Amino acid sequence: MNLPNMNDAKKRTKQNVKILYDDYNTSNLENIGKDKQYLILTYGCQMNVHDSEYISGIMEDIGYTKTDDMDNADVIIVNTCAIRENAHNKAEGMLGRIKHLKEEKDNIIVIFCGCMAQEEGLVNKINKYKWIDIICGTHNYHKIPEYLSEYMNKGKVCEVYSIEGNVIENLPVVRDSKYTAWVNIQYGCDKFCTYCIVPYTRGKQRSRKSEDIIDEVRELYNNGYQEVTLLGQNVNAYGKDFDNDYDFADLLGEVASTGIPRIRFVTSHPWDFTDKMIEVISKCDNIMPYIHLPIQSGSDRILKLMGRKYTIKEYLEIIEKLRKNIPNVSITTDIIVGFPGETNEDFEKTLDIVNRVKYDLAYTFIFSPREGTPAAKMKDDTSMEEKKARLARLNELINKYALESNQKMKDKVYEVLIIGPSDKDNKYMGYTPNMKLVNVNCDETMLGKIVPVKITEVKTWSLDGEIASGE
Ligand code: SAH
Ligand code: SF4
Ligand code: F3S
Repeated sequence: MNLPNMNDAKKRTKQNVKILYDDYNTSNLENIGKDKQYLILTYGCQMNVHDSEYISGIMEDIGYTKTDDMDNADVIIVNTCAIRENAHNKAEGMLGRIKHLKEEKDNIIVIFCGCMAQEEGLVNKINKYKWIDIICGTHNYHKIPEYLSEYMNKGKVCEVYSIEGNVIENLPVVRDSKYTAWVNIQYGCDKFCTYCIVPYTRGKQRSRKSEDIIDEVRELYNNGYQEVTLLGQNVNAYGKDFDNDYDFADLLGEVASTGIPRIRFVTSHPWDFTDKMIEVISKCDNIMPYIHLPIQSGSDRILKLMGRKYTIKEYLEIIEKLRKNIPNVSITTDIIVGFPGETNEDFEKTLDIVNRVKYDLAYTFIFSPREGTPAAKMKDDTSMEEKKARLARLNELINKYALESNQKMKDKVYEVLIIGPSDKDNKYMGYTPNMKLVNVNCDETMLGKIVPVKITEVKTWSLDGEIASGE
């Protein structure tokens, strides 16, 4: 048994990251899942979604097949998120359901993994739940085959590493889409924003070697993928952990030269945003004009308390350069309301910034204290009622600008990559270069293709369109 430890998880040393090309091995366990099925439930950000694709790769490598039906599953994997209290609540709600199922069918194996499994207080609690069979953290998915075998032979396994972390390069992967793919470029985070749990749950920032990233993108392109999204908590801090000065702009340029039609990246941090990046984005047609640039607050005082290390002035300078150099760029953001000590005046400053930047979309959250982070100990006098009222005002403004930016697209033609059936009547959905979701009146022969689409209707969250061929 190896339990998480928040103090160890916080440590950062100069010690070099190991890039491991043979750490994953199934050592005679290739068939332990023969004739059995696994189900995977994923909460949280794209990083977790992509981790689940690796976990699927591992499960299928040892003989399991995937099911979406909980009643048929022999193994249920819950890949959790710890970012806010409601992420916890969702996972805990699901655990309740699984507990009932396990009472009826005790041969199901339940694996609890992901960011919640890196939290000390939480694991101390759920480790006592008899019906959770395997607990593993974000650093050791590659050992799931071993844990399954250990569980089958000896019973409950709990292994979580609170380490800075390495990079494991030889994991099998089963991707959710045949057309768009996530590509990790870096793991972990060293920013330690005072509210955030991620640096504790994911370890230190470690960049993958550019050769490995480029090889992966080339292989995806050769296999018909049309779009890659480069993934990391701070993609533009890529390479800061290298001994040389190769940086994210260099990587973007190299990825663009593979010729893959579409390249995106999330998430950028204003702190590491360089002019060189903007130059590369504006030069390469296959880097999509879409930037997600979390601001978090419009008040310099709050940004300082958050440990974000940029000012509103600096943030606005980046926005100005983006708008000037990248035609039709979409800009989206993340905003936290009700950070400890946020006054009405601070909050008004956030609204001011939204009025200035006119975001295409924003993800907005009420501050959620995370155990072990500095902000959780800060004095917080604002009532939840007041925080909810602020969030509602903010959302109203965000929605107004989201609709306005969509309205500008009406009757115009955009290239849309069609990626799957839409939940709307027989339509297919896809994305414009600037990341607007379009429900397109077309048939399945368009799947995986980039087609010209005329926008016929606009709403706050999506657009409707028709194929514009021949126009
Ligand atoms: N690495 C990214 C974001 C990661 S988490 C970045 O730095 O921008 C995604 C978003 O969740 C954050 O941008 C922030 O807005 C929000 N978030 C993180 N911790 C939070 C907390 N404790 N309470 C509320 N929102 C939080
Ligand atoms: Fe969290 Fe800040 Fe790191 Fe983003 S940059 S993951 S908000 S600590
Ligand atoms: Fe959640 Fe972990 Fe992502 S805490 S937001 S799943 S990095």
